[in-house]
Amino acid sequence: MAWPDPLTTCSNTITVSGGAGAEGSRFATHRDSRRMRQLAILGGHPAFAEPLHVGRPNVGSEEQFLALTQQVLASRRFTNYGPLVAQFERQISERLQVEHCVVVNNATSGLALAAIALGLSGSVIVPAFGFIATAHAMRLAGLRVLFADIDPRTHHIDCASVLARIEPDTSAVVAVHLWGNPCDIAPLEQLCEERGMKLLFDSAQAFGSTCDGVPVGGFGNAEVFSFHATKAINSFEGGAITTRDAALADKLRLLVNFGFAGEDQIDSWGINAKMPEVCAAMGITSLASADAIFAHNLRIHDAYAAHLRGTEGLALLPYPRNEANSRNYVVLTVTDAFPLDRDALYHVLRAENVLARRYFNPAGHQAEPYRHLSENRRLTLPATERACREVLCLPTGTSITIDQVQRICEIIASAGEQAAAIRDAHALPEERVDAAGR
Ligand SMILES: Cc1ncc(COP(=O)(O)O)c(C=O)c1O
Repeated sequence: MAWPDPLTTCSNTITVSGGAGAEGSRFATHRDSRRMRQLAILGGHPAFAEPLHVGRPNVGSEEQFLALTQQVLASRRFTNYGPLVAQFERQISERLQVEHCVVVNNATSGLALAAIALGLSGSVIVPAFGFIATAHAMRLAGLRVLFADIDPRTHHIDCASVLARIEPDTSAVVAVHLWGNPCDIAPLEQLCEERGMKLLFDSAQAFGSTCDGVPVGGFGNAEVFSFHATKAINSFEGGAITTRDAALADKLRLLVNFGFAGEDQIDSWGINAKMPEVCAAMGITSLASADAIFAHNLRIHDAYAAHLRGTEGLALLPYPRNEANSRNYVVLTVTDAFPLDRDALYHVLRAENVLARRYFNPAGHQAEPYRHLSENRRLTLPATERACREVLCLPTGTSITIDQVQRICEIIASAGEQAAAIRDAHALPEERVDAAGR
């Protein structure tokens, strides 16, 4: 996969160059008016009357959703693997070009059930930087979690760190396609094969992504997607496990439904991880708008890139241009070269009603219930800890407009210019990192 130059920065504040087209000149005009405006954190009015969110749900066609929901009501078939769940599974399989898809109630239970179906035991290695559900799901499956560091360029699990963390009882690597970008799949596959370990992908953020043109979904032993409301494609809550392994898919179908193989036949242990029909209705609706949602996010991402380009100390995580990606995340890195640190910028934006998110903070090995375990007490994972300090996700999705992006970037530029005033005014809340990252 061809990666663009990572985290590129150059020259100084508010330089806009290339790619913006008309955006560039519009930005210059707003920049002048911006100088008149006092930042909200310094006592001005918030730039936005309503909060702008990271991951505000995309709706798709309300008409389609309501028609499908009426179908559900009329059929009185609300759950238990109804026709809409079956249709959603078929559509996911087709889109991801993978033979088997088992839809579930969310990705967290999907990950735990995938681990159980794969017969994992002892310990598993997961990246320390990412959403805590990956680790929690493994713990739910009765596994010990070993945290590995990330590659600072991509934020993906680092193969060298995986090697260093392997213990005699390690049965699998759970790699995360963070930000929807596929991990370094081939080296991970090789490593797991050589060590006799299973490879499970947490693809919660990666629906619609490709790796060398191949859709994510059929790699490793299994992949698990999330259709949580904040994902580009959502089913309110929901998830899917995809695999090329027919026997694994059969096991999963039992695990998702209390082990029932027939009306009066229980073949295994299992839980209730079924997706209700109304959620499948939303999933089908969302899927029908996938290309439009992805295209919108791409425009939003390009607008951020154009406005922030050239700002010293700030960089957007790049996405390979030649690969599909929902662009559901605009991942800003705030380094020491920017006059304010990430947490200060977070509070500046919040005061303006821009609810940027410190994804993902804290790191897995620094969060409960892991941090007090003996193996984590002295564990340092430098790239992870740095990403936890520096990363800020900016609002995107279909409720965000290009003009709003421009104003958000103006606020960021103003914050950089007025950093001293912001610090002098003691305008920042004392408690700058809330442990829940919310
Ligand atoms: C990387 C990752 N793993 C797991 C999850 C959990 O997904 P869900 O909310 O569907 O359980 C999420 C999502 O929120 C995620 O981003």
